[in-house]
Amino acid sequence: MTEETITAKEYKLDVESELRFEIETKDCKVSVELKLGSAELFGTELVKGKAYEFHTGAKVAIFTYRGCTLEVRGETDVIYISRETPMIQYLNCHAALEQMREKAEEEDTLGPIALIVGPTDVGKSTLCKIFLNYAARMNRRPLYCDIDVGQGTLSVPGMIASILVERPASLTEGFSQSAPLVYHHGHRSPSENSALYKMIIKKMAEVAITSRESNKGLKTSGIIINTCGWVKGAGYKSLLHAAEEFQVDVIFVLDQERLYNELLRDVPSKVKVVLLPKSGGVVERSKTQRGEARDGRIREYFYGGRSPLYPFSFDVKWADMRLYKIGAPALPASCLPIGMKPEDHLTKLVPVAPSPAILHHLISISFAESLEDDVLCTNIMGFICVTGVDPERQVVTVLSPQPRPLPPNNILLLSDIQFMDSH
Ligand SMILES: Nc1ncnc2c1ncn2[C@@H]1O[C@H](COP(=O)(O)OP(=O)(O)OP(=O)(O)O)[C@@H](O)[C@H]1O
Ligand SMILES: [Mg+2]
Repeated sequence: MTEETITAKEYKLDVESELRFEIETKDCKVSVELKLGSAELFGTELVKGKAYEFHTGAKVAIFTYRGCTLEVRGETDVIYISRETPMIQYLNCHAALEQMREKAEEEDTLGPIALIVGPTDVGKSTLCKIFLNYAARMNRRPLYCDIDVGQGTLSVPGMIASILVERPASLTEGFSQSAPLVYHHGHRSPSENSALYKMIIKKMAEVAITSRESNKGLKTSGIIINTCGWVKGAGYKSLLHAAEEFQVDVIFVLDQERLYNELLRDVPSKVKVVLLPKSGGVVERSKTQRGEARDGRIREYFYGGRSPLYPFSFDVKWADMRLYKIGAPALPASCLPIGMKPEDHLTKLVPVAPSPAILHHLISISFAESLEDDVLCTNIMGFICVTGVDPERQVVTVLSPQPRPLPPNNILLLSDIQFMDSH
C-alpha cells in the first residue's frame, strides 16, 4: 500500500474519554497523531504533531482529560471511542500515592509500596505503567518490581526483575532499562518451583527496600509491584508472601471482589486494600496469544524492537560451559540428610551436562562466578539461547547479544523456557 492510499481518519474525543483500537492483522502498522488538545497513552503524554506507530498485536487506549483530536492512519481491526473508562479512579489512586510520598518526605520515611493484583487480563501491567508514568511526571523516581514470571514487562519470561523509573515510558520503547536487577526462576509459572519463587521474591524485596534507604529522593518515591494473574490457592499464598516481604502499604485489586475480600481478611489492618474496576478495553488473550507474547519478548531481547539489535551466533564447547539447573528430583523424607527440609531440593543447584535436550532453551548468565556465591540470589547479567547442539563435536551454537566468548567463569542457569529462533 502506498502512503497516499492509506486511509486517514480524524477522531474527536470529549473530556475524559478514550480512543481504543486493536491491530490483529499480520504485518500491519497504524500511526496516530495528536492534532489538537492533549492526550496520553497509559500515562505517557503524546507530543502534538508527532506520528506514533503501532504494530500487529497492539491494544491501545489513548485517553484525554480535556478533549482532543486524533488522526489515525492505517487499518485497525477494532476502533472506537469510549466514555466508560476507569482512568479517573486510577488518577485518584495515583493522587493518594502522591499524598503518601509527601507524608514520607515530611517524616523521612519510606514512600508507598504498592502491590497490584488481579486475575489474568484485567490490566495489572497497564495500571503499573500508569502509576509509574504519573509518578515520573511529578519528578518522582519509583522502583518498579515486576514479579510476574509469565507475562512480565521487564526482562525475559521466567525472570523477575526491577528497574528504577526516572522518566515516563517512551510510547514506542517502554521504560528505559539500564541496569535492571534480574533474578532467575526459569519457569512460566511460579507454581513450577514455588520454593525458588519465594526465595527470589524475598531477596528482591530486601534489595529493593535497602537500596532506597540511602537516598531520600528514592526513599520517598516508593515501589510499584506488578504480579501475575495466578490468584487462587498457592497463587494467592504467593501474593500474601510478596505483600509481607515487600512490607506493602497498599494493595490495588483489579476486578475481582472475591480476591479483594480474601485480602481484606488476610493482610494486617494497616495495609490498605483497594478494589478497582478493570477497563472495558482490556480483552482476554488466548493461550496462543500469551505464548506469542512471551516469544515476542525474547525476540525483542535479542533482535530489538523499534531500534533493531544484531545478536551474535557462535559455538561454545561443552567443556567450557558451567551449566546448572535449579531444583533436583525430590528424595523421600527418610533419605534426606539431617536438617534438610523436603522442599530444599527445589533450591538446589544441579550440574547439567549439555546434550540435545537443551536445544532452543534459554540460559541465564549469572554474575556469580563460584558456587560459593549465593548463586540463586545473584543478579543475572544476560541471556543466551541454544540454537544448535552437535554431540559429535561436543559444541552448542548459541544466540547471544554479545560477541564470543561467553564470560569464562560465570555460572549458567538453564531455563525451562524455549525460543525458536526463526531469523
Ligand atoms: N483501557 C484499555 N483499552 C484498550 N486496551 C487496553 C486498555 N488497558 C489495557 N489494555 C491492553 O490490554 C492488554 C492486557 O493488559 P495488561 O497486560 O495490562 O493486563 P494484565 O492484567 O497485566 O495481564 P496478564 O494477566 O497477562 O499479566 C494489553 O495489551 C494492554 O495494552
Ligand atoms: Mg501483566
